[in-house]
Amino acid sequence: MISADVIIVGAGIAAHSVACRLADSDKKVIMITKSKKENCNSTLAQGGISVALGENDSYMQHYEDTLTAGCGLNNKESTLKLVKTAPDVIREFIDKGMEFDKNPDGSISFGKEAAHRLARVIHAGGDRTGLKVMEQLYRNLDGRAEIVENEPVIDVILKDGAAKGVVTRTAQGKYNTYCAPYVVLACGGVGNLYPGTSNDGTITGDSVALGYRCGAELKNLEFVQFHPTLLTFNGKNFGLITEAVRGDGGVLINEKGEKIMEGVHPMKDLAPRDVVSRAVYTHTLKGEQIFLDISAISGFKERFPYVSEICESNGVDLSKNLIPVAPGAHFHMGGIKALPTGETSVEGLYAVGEAACTGVHGANRLASNSLLEGLVFGKLTAENILNSNRQLEECEYVFPETQPVRPLPTKKEIKRVMMNCVGIIRTEEKLKRAVEFFEKYMPEGKDFGRIDPRSVSDEELEIYNMLTAGWLIAKAAEARKESFGAHYIEGEV
Ligand code: SIN
Repeated sequence: MISADVIIVGAGIAAHSVACRLADSDKKVIMITKSKKENCNSTLAQGGISVALGENDSYMQHYEDTLTAGCGLNNKESTLKLVKTAPDVIREFIDKGMEFDKNPDGSISFGKEAAHRLARVIHAGGDRTGLKVMEQLYRNLDGRAEIVENEPVIDVILKDGAAKGVVTRTAQGKYNTYCAPYVVLACGGVGNLYPGTSNDGTITGDSVALGYRCGAELKNLEFVQFHPTLLTFNGKNFGLITEAVRGDGGVLINEKGEKIMEGVHPMKDLAPRDVVSRAVYTHTLKGEQIFLDISAISGFKERFPYVSEICESNGVDLSKNLIPVAPGAHFHMGGIKALPTGETSVEGLYAVGEAACTGVHGANRLASNSLLEGLVFGKLTAENILNSNRQLEECEYVFPETQPVRPLPTKKEIKRVMMNCVGIIRTEEKLKRAVEFFEKYMPEGKDFGRIDPRSVSDEELEIYNMLTAGWLIAKAAEARKESFGAHYIEGEV
């Protein structure tokens, strides 16, 4: 048995934010990830962090924009906590060494993104904000937490209904039991449940599945955000084209050069993401290629070095000023129901970042609120842990006897069902079909509970987690009869 004060599952911005604050108080933290620590969505984030630090801004304006984008389905208390705490957390991060991009006069440069009334997105390295933020967090943590890589977490271990640790499997097939009075799930969302995604390849719905299997309450699972602009041609996507490109003047056009957002929404190309994604998707369903016209942006390569690299390395000639795009799965607004302090319905179990649903994103996340959530609620989670006194207990993992239904589907099959039936445009009939598809794979015809990990490979474990998350998302979508934000039922509105 390996023991720690706190076990964190995941290694992105939320995980590191929790770890840094705990390490400042000399807690023994073990962070566990199924791949390398860099394999997370945070390092891929481009646009930035939204925060009311500008002269003409206020946290109340940030709050209102977050609610408008979220279709009012946000948890108002949590949202207020996020936007109000944000300026201090960002100032503290800057004091600890983080450098955001500046204007020639030395002031912080604010970018504009969709559904923000003004420019409030701070960024670093142009469009490499996520990577720069993570590099700073690695420096801040400075080896004060043990980071275990390449060990998938199989299950949270419960005793008397409380989380007491986790069980993992090493590349050599050895099962490790890690015991701690606090288990924090910070292992991201569900992007790879869909064929096109901006997410890192490791993001396969593990947090939803782990939370479900240990009985945590889940919330808003039906809300999956699609980003309108992934570099896409010949049906394949090659990475995100940040929304900041549209914020700086990029315009979505069709093959005839017509602006596709004209007349669709008053904010046109900077309408909330769900609106823009649906518009682009409607065109692509008709077989049209949509482009991001960047001709109005001067100094494109300097402002967007990473986007330029992605385009050029995939054969897009930027001198033509046209980037072919299509929407892709980007962010899960739903997840394990949690407070801004990370607490979930299971004692000792915390969830933070994209893994959590604190309700701050409502039905559709406001651009650049996710890195912010990881930083701010990560810190509040650590502070909650520091102010409570759960005791370490020995924990033991008992192998379940249940076997999965074989043959399991391929990841490709699951992705196809999710995109066709639980994607950008849904119908009651398609959602029903998706639920039926998933339920064929329920062990013992019951639910997606714990299975014997000795009978599955790591790949099959991921597939089982994808089946679990897919089923739960499809069922949640089936239950919500009205369209809201990212959950759009055709014909209903
Ligand atoms: C982007 O850069 O467009 C993504 C930012 C975000 O998802 O908040």
